[in-house]
Order: sequence, then C-alpha cells, then structure tokens
Amino acid sequence: MALYAIGDLHLSLSSGKPMDVFGGGWEDYVEKIKVGFSELQNDDVCVLCGDLSWGMSFGESLEDIKFISALPGRKIILKGNHDYWWDTATKMRSYFSDNAIENIEILHNNCYFYKNTAICGTRGWQFDSAEEPEHNAKITAREAARLRASLEAAGEAQEKLCFLHYPPRFADSVSAAIVDVMAEYGVKRCWYGHLHGSAHHAAAQGTIDAVEYNLISADYLGFKPQLVME
Ligand SMILES: [Fe+2]
Ligand SMILES: [Fe+2]
Repeated sequence: MALYAIGDLHLSLSSGKPMDVFGGGWEDYVEKIKVGFSELQNDDVCVLCGDLSWGMSFGESLEDIKFISALPGRKIILKGNHDYWWDTATKMRSYFSDNAIENIEILHNNCYFYKNTAICGTRGWQFDSAEEPEHNAKITAREAARLRASLEAAGEAQEKLCFLHYPPRFADSVSAAIVDVMAEYGVKRCWYGHLHGSAHHAAAQGTIDAVEYNLISADYLGFKPQLVME
C-alpha cells in the first residue's frame, strides 16, 4: 500500500485534443500513462493534481474518466485550469455513480486520510500574472480559503500534505496567500502540476522556508506517478 501523485494527464480520448502533437515527450502519452501506472496496486492511492481531461462536458470527458478509473489504485482528484468538464461536487458524484465509477473521489473543501496522514489541497491560482490584478487577488483569496477548509478538515492528523494544481512558487515569485495558509497549518510537503515543457526549468523544487516542493506534471515525471509515502 502506497500513496502516489501525478498531475496533468491531459487526456482527450473523445474530445479531439490529443497531446501527442506537441512532442516534448507527449508522443504516445496514453500508453506511457498506462505503463507509468502499471507498478501501482489496487490498494494504492494516487492523487491526480488537475488538468485531467480536455472534455468540455461530462459526456466529452467520460472516456477519459473511465480510463482513469481503470488504472490501478484509488484516485483522489482536484481541479486544474483545463478541467472544463468539472461541475459541483454533488453533480460530479452523481456523474461518477451513474457511470459505475467507484474509485475516484473529489478533493474540494475537504480532505482524505492515508493512514495517519491527511491529503489536503485545492486548485490554487496563477498568482504572478500582471493582468487583472483585482480578479487575481479575489481568486487567490478564494483558493486560499478552500485550502484552509481542507487543512481544517484534517484536524490533528499526524502530517498534513498539500496538493495543488497551480504552483505556489515559480522562479522568484510566491503566492503569499497560499504559502501562508500552508505555514499556518504546519504543512511540510507540497506537490503541484500545471508547468509543462520549458517551464519545468523555473519550477520551485526542494525545500524552501521549511516546505519541500515537488513538481509532478505528467510530462515532467515521464508519465509515472511519484511515490509520496508508503
Ligand atoms: Fe497542464
Ligand atoms: Fe494547468
């Protein structure tokens, strides 16, 4: 039994936007994902950090969700900026149950437990964009509140892990609102996705201000989930 994480599968099995055309390791990426997950067992847990499906609706995402469900292990998913198919938690749960999807759970204002460790997180936001500063501040504050709700739900868990879609740090920039909430709740380890291609080079990695950061975009990991803990 082990806990893993990976982000940005960017599946498009029925929505016409396969990533293979981009190169940069994305060729045959669906097969690479299958191979990458083949080491997982059904009692493992994998957190999927957003950008799961290019589908624009439940219907368009269904083949992708079925593919994710068929991969070994229980999956805990959070939303990425490209998950336009995503809806309210209630509608998502109905969508999953209507389609006999039983091993995918949603991380949104809540947390899950792996042994004594809490799996917490939210999507996050693109904090360092100079465009629309008021809008960015509003969304960042909302995401920080969602992260707080998730960490609060963890109670007195032995360790609280933080999973995000957007990086909380990039190059020399930092999302103070998100990082402050992590510090307040004693988060020591954080995993995030969203960054692709040349952006990998500027990713915050390793320990910064007592928090260990891990970039887990699928193309960065070679489409193999990263082991978080056993
Ligand atoms: Fe992505
Ligand atoms: Fe993204």
